Amino acid sequence: MSGRPILFEPFKIKSVERMNFSTEAERKAWIQEAGYNVFSLKAAQVTIDLLTDSGTGAMSDAQWAEMIRADESYAGSRNYLELEETVQAMTGLPFVIPVHQGRAAEHLLFSELVAPGHIIPSNSHFDTTLANIEDRGGEGINLLTELGRDPFAEAPFKGNMDVDALKNLLEQRAKDVPFVMLTITNNSGGGQPVSLSNINAVANLCRQYKKLFVLDACRFAENAFFIKKREPGYENRTPKEIARECFDQCDIMTFSGKKDALANIGGLLCLRSESLVDNLKNRLIVTEGFPTYGGLAGYSLAAMNQGLKEVLDERYLEYRLRTAEWMVEKLANADIPVIRPAGGHALYIEASKFFPHIEQRHLPGITLAAELYVQGGIRACELGTVAFGKTLPDGSQSSPPLDLVRLALPRRTYTEAHMGFVVNCVIDIFKKRESLKGYTFEKEFPVMRHFRSTFRPLK
Ligand SMILES: Cc1ncc(COP(=O)(O)O)c(C=O)c1O
Repeated sequence: MSGRPILFEPFKIKSVERMNFSTEAERKAWIQEAGYNVFSLKAAQVTIDLLTDSGTGAMSDAQWAEMIRADESYAGSRNYLELEETVQAMTGLPFVIPVHQGRAAEHLLFSELVAPGHIIPSNSHFDTTLANIEDRGGEGINLLTELGRDPFAEAPFKGNMDVDALKNLLEQRAKDVPFVMLTITNNSGGGQPVSLSNINAVANLCRQYKKLFVLDACRFAENAFFIKKREPGYENRTPKEIARECFDQCDIMTFSGKKDALANIGGLLCLRSESLVDNLKNRLIVTEGFPTYGGLAGYSLAAMNQGLKEVLDERYLEYRLRTAEWMVEKLANADIPVIRPAGGHALYIEASKFFPHIEQRHLPGITLAAELYVQGGIRACELGTVAFGKTLPDGSQSSPPLDLVRLALPRRTYTEAHMGFVVNCVIDIFKKRESLKGYTFEKEFPVMRHFRSTFRPLK
């Protein structure tokens, strides 16, 4: 198409939501009241909300129409049967259990499969996945490749699992490993994709060692499009065919419908074999609800079903992945330390490199998140020293290897103009970075401390 803009949103806007605007003086007062923690801001105080891509996307007219038509029967709802059919056709997995969101699928599955002393390998476990494994007395292990651990190395599949490390682990500890997981795309590692050859290699090892292979498929459609774009041999295959080839390798899928089902709530646990299904459904009845609604309204099942029919559209996926890529290009050109190459659903800025003069104990990620809010009313999420570090007995901070701030991209919600504004804001802050001083903890919460802790700016 000639005259093609940088991002081409493949939708027309039929219903709009007014944005919240504020003055810098108002934002300074609000962030101070929030203890400089953006999680404590009211949504109405935020102009562009990039806190998460989970459940925050815009639904299509077809999704809303299906929601109005939904069948709210307790048992045997038409919407469950339609969703079951869509998921079976898409994944080839015959047993489809609805749950209220992704972590409920994890909790349900691990209640059956994880026991104290177990080790669960993954490329990278998402935080709720790890928390659910640990809740059962198990241990989660991340086996990302060395390339995947380098934030700035340009490589196509930085979400891949280190297959040799998995083989070694299975060789030594096979009896402690109930199953192997693979997260596509790898949220904890920057939304980086996993190649089909890596999925196949992991699946082969699982077969060889007779282990179940579980896909955390939250962003399966984004991963499929990365494969089409980057893996030789897949350029002429459709995202739908590629996604099916990925699913064909797994025994079980956990899924959050808040991502690639384009829905605001919902999740799935799907299985190839019947052996666990009775026990899982019995537990589901105790914790989530009857197996044909699993803690969801009929209209939420309908939204997921329609979303799954829309998400593999190539024009949508092209626009989706291009958005992050375009933003990363602009930031990298301005020398901003952003994780490369772009992932699917978010951009990640390395805050300790953005502010080399701010020591990690003075929380560069909080500094950037607070300043993005003050400058532009933009809400991003610190995933660095505060989220993953600890205060040590001598009062110093342990820091994770990367001090990241994540700008997550809600699906079909913002336009190129909005994203251009975000990019400019980051660049403006970068230009005046030396004038910013950092923060310390005011009140520190011991677990998941990024959610509720408060901070004080250094003078
Ligand atoms: C990779 C991954 N797995 C699991 C989950 C959990 O899903 P939910 O938030 O629906 O519980 C998420 C959510 O962000 C995720 O990104």
